[in-house]
Parts: sequence; C-alpha cells; structure tokens
Amino acid sequence: MDDAKRPCVVLGVTGSIAAFRAADLASAMVQKGWEVHAVLTADGERFLPALTLAALTHRAVHTSLWEEGKGGRMGHLDLARLADVVLVAPASADCLAKSAHGLAGDVLGAVLLATESPVVMVPAMNTQMWKHAATQANVKLLSQRGVIWVGPSEGRLACGAEGPGRMAPVLEIVAQIEKTLRQKKGKK
Ligand SMILES: Cc1cc2nc3c(=O)[nH]c(=O)nc-3n(C[C@H](O)[C@H](O)[C@H](O)COP(=O)(O)O)c2cc1C
Repeated sequence: MDDAKRPCVVLGVTGSIAAFRAADLASAMVQKGWEVHAVLTADGERFLPALTLAALTHRAVHTSLWEEGKGGRMGHLDLARLADVVLVAPASADCLAKSAHGLAGDVLGAVLLATESPVVMVPAMNTQMWKHAATQANVKLLSQRGVIWVGPSEGRLACGAEGPGRMAPVLEIVAQIEKTLRQKKGKK
C-alpha cells in the first residue's frame, strides 16, 4: 500500500510494566495497513527494546529529541504533523503529569505539544497511582483539552493489587483508533 494514502499513527510507549503489550498493539496496527511510527521514552526503553518496535513497525524508532531529522528538519515536528492520531499506550502516570503541564523534554512530550491531531491515551499504572488526586486532576485537565481515553481496565495488576489500572485490551484500543480516524476523515 502507498504510504501517502495510509493512515498514520504515532505510537508513544512510556515506562509502564505494560509496555511489552505495545508490541502486540504495534503489530495489530501494522496489520491494519496503518503507517506506525513508534516513539519510546527513556524509561519505556527499559521495558521494551526499540529493536522490537522497529522490527514490528518496519521503521526506526524515535528515542531522542537530538536524533538528526531528514535534511536538517526537526524530527519531532515532522512526526507531529505526520500523525493522523497520536496514541500513547501504555501512558504512565508520569507521562500524564508531564503532558498536562506541557513538558516537552523528550520526543513524546514535544510531539504531544506540537500536534494538532487527536490524542488517544491508554493509561496503565498501579490502582493507587491512578486514583491519586494528582493523576485524576491531570486526567481532567487533559480531557478538557480533548484527549480521548481508552481504559484503564479493572482487574489484577502486575503489582498484585486488584482494581483499575490495567492497560486496555489491544482490540479495544485499535477500535478506538479506527473510530478516531473515521471522525477525523469526516471533518475534512
Ligand atoms: C518495575 C517498574 C514498573 C513500573 N510500572 C509503572 C506503570 O505500570 N505505570 C506507571 O505509571 N509507572 C510505572 N513505573 C514508574 C515509571 O517507570 C516512572 O514513573 C518513569 O519515570 C516513567 O517515565 P516516562 O513517563 O517518561 O516513560 C514503574 C517503575 C518500575 C521500576
């Protein structure tokens, strides 16, 4: 399929224990025929090697603001423009806080600040972290700015606790991206 006609999803992966599930997610989106550009935070890379995402998306993974853009261009701004949707899955508590306050100290933060496209966040964290007033205030602020949420789901978490905080299932995330892409196309 011609890249120019394919929907483009920028997939941000952050430092959550659920990051390994982003591999399945990336693969499912590539199988849909979408162009998937992965961005890994430094702590995301502790959980999921860039190589895995690169192999699944058939492209280099963006891990640093300081990587050289094509022909001297600024890579993060190109990604922000290219994205039909910016998807952050899993989105850590830290990522929600940084995004709510407009921090742009890494590629993902800069893309989130520079994009004019819809942003879909898939939180994944410990239940207490999710329920914390600080996180909920960040969620509220981001919702007011139009962020779309998938999950978190409830159930047993990696830390052994039960409750909300699990990363939503891949199928649910892909369904939301399809919906967001349809809505965006309808608006053009
Ligand atoms: C083993 C381990 C598991 C973690 N799992 C999560 C998680 O599921 N969700 C979360 O919000 N933070 C989690 N953290 C904390 C984040 O990695 C930490 O806040 C980090 O700074 C996030 O950075 P990032 O948002 O730039 O990727 C975990 C930390 C460790 C050491």
